[in-house]
Amino acid sequence: MSKIPMLIDCDPGLDDAIAILTAAHTADLVGITTVNGNVGIEHTTHNALAVLQAAGLDVPVHRGAARPLVADTIDASYVHGPTGLGSVTIPDLDRSEDSDDAVGFILETSHDIEGLHLVAIGPLTNIALALRRDPTLPDRLGGLTIMGGAAVGGNVTATAEFNIWADPEAAAIVLREAGPVTMVGLDVTHQVLLGPEERDMLRDAGFPAARLAADLLDYAVERIGEIRGWAGAPIHDACAVLAATDPDLFGGDVRPVDVELTGALTRGMTVVDYRPSGRDGRIAPDDSATLVLREVDAPTVVHRIVDAVIKLGP
Ligand code: RIB
Ligand code: CA
Repeated sequence: MSKIPMLIDCDPGLDDAIAILTAAHTADLVGITTVNGNVGIEHTTHNALAVLQAAGLDVPVHRGAARPLVADTIDASYVHGPTGLGSVTIPDLDRSEDSDDAVGFILETSHDIEGLHLVAIGPLTNIALALRRDPTLPDRLGGLTIMGGAAVGGNVTATAEFNIWADPEAAAIVLREAGPVTMVGLDVTHQVLLGPEERDMLRDAGFPAARLAADLLDYAVERIGEIRGWAGAPIHDACAVLAATDPDLFGGDVRPVDVELTGALTRGMTVVDYRPSGRDGRIAPDDSATLVLREVDAPTVVHRIVDAVIKLGP
């Protein structure tokens, strides 16, 4: 079966890095764009290049937004480490990014490659800017999948997930205007934990990409263990990649979703309307509704991630 063409917009980030490696095997990874998020744009761009270099992957990287549309610039270095790749020693790069116009690359690629799947696994700043530059972008996509939000709960606050919280105005633009969107939120990603067993399988494989993933997992498992007391780390972003390449492993339903922008306790919350359709006051028009994923075959997804990274080979 042919692999879907995929462009990943990301903020590497420990799980972004594993998502890139997963996509390199499960998809036809045609390009990467970077955004400020887990760490600053210099680091996220450098990290994307470093992950590709470590795995021997020749994929273009285009730098994107250095700050959110409106919100103050924040980061998640308390989770991902000051560089964004934990304690991994990042080698000197043998190349630099292909451009600093992520939005232009996204739009150009959507014209050049039929059925392009755009997978956004960081704050949605670049995607919102692309929609502002060309509102017809969704018409040309084979799919738009985001790692972000949650039907219930949050991680960076009680009600907000980091990617949405980091740039809620951008997320609102995307969810209101880019439909249909597939939302891979914490409801799913908190079921997909990789721990010491998966780390050892990757390390034992011995290939460069697998060893890198094992090193990233070392840090992620330790930090999540300290922060949440969990034995494994949720590999959020690789779930979004597999939701695009292996949709049968996930379940959910199409619902209107909008983003809270002003609540003192709820800014950055993805509000999902589970009331019966047709009710007055729906929070979003049904034709822009979002596929909200909530079920996942977690053991198979975990295996698929590990298997994909190992199969990148030497
Ligand atoms: O909430 C999880 C998301 O925030 C992931 O994309 C992770 O990389 C961080 O960016
Ligand atoms: Ca991310």
